[in-house]
Amino acid sequence: MVAGWRCVGALRVGKGRQTGSETDFKEGQLATLASGGELLRYNTVARTFHAIIAVLVILNLIGGIGHEAFEDIFNPIPLHKATGIVILLLTLARIGWRLTWTMPDWPATMSSVQRAVARITHGLLYFLMLAVPITGWIMSSAGKYPISIYGLFDWPKLPVAKGSALAEAAHEGHEVLGLLMAALVVLHIGAALHHHFVMKDNILRRML
Ligand code: HEM
Ligand code: HEM
Repeated sequence: MVAGWRCVGALRVGKGRQTGSETDFKEGQLATLASGGELLRYNTVARTFHAIIAVLVILNLIGGIGHEAFEDIFNPIPLHKATGIVILLLTLARIGWRLTWTMPDWPATMSSVQRAVARITHGLLYFLMLAVPITGWIMSSAGKYPISIYGLFDWPKLPVAKGSALAEAAHEGHEVLGLLMAALVVLHIGAALHHHFVMKDNILRRML
């Protein structure tokens, strides 16, 4: 039970239905429900995935966009590559988990346009959480340096030749998609703050 939330159970594992008697649920396992069966917040695993991936993506965006500026102090690229691979693996696990539950309903105060924008933004963020690290992996596979996971072991490289069309396209794609991701993350955080401070609904709290 989390202070401030009425936590009586969790959502079922199959798709679609959000109701059921209290005895159908295991507390804290999936999504928190109000006594009427209304979903109040994202489940613990979803919130944990969101928080960890959010921090790592923001760090990687800063390290990627600023890598030339940091070069006098240190080269962030080895850390950037390792963290990017960790983001890719966490995202695959997150998407697998995401397929097992349905999200809490949006508040009635959200218009259909706002809902559509939220849906599209979230879908694009999931796409970018895969596409940005995969293009980085392809691009770096053609480079001469290893993809070292924090000095512990080397991540396997894909068979991509240096200077090949695939390596060039991945490089270009990584830059363009990386910058698009930065813009969407700013929009996404701005929307979360707008919900919290202007619309004063529970959208931000239910993901924290
Ligand atoms: C979600 C994960 C990732 C994010 C958000 C991200 C983002 C970025 C961004 C925004 C840039 C700067 C692009 C530019 O303006 O030049 C960049 C550069 C770079 N990224 Fe990533 N990246 C991620 C994962 C990876 C992975 C997995 C690898 C390789 C294994 C990688 C390798 C690189 C390299 C080598 C550069 C420098 C490219 C250059 O100097 O032209 N990135 N990244
Ligand atoms: C401080 C930074 C962030 C805040 C405050 C934040 C806030 C939120 C909130 C409040 C939601 C729930 C929206 C809803 O209930 O409709 C959400 C969902 C989501 N966020 Fe973030 N977020 C942040 C960073 C990020 C980052 C960096 C990413 C990934 C690049 C991300 C990806 C997502 C995705 C994919 C969802 C949809 C979850 C789902 O329904 O499956 N967020 N975020």
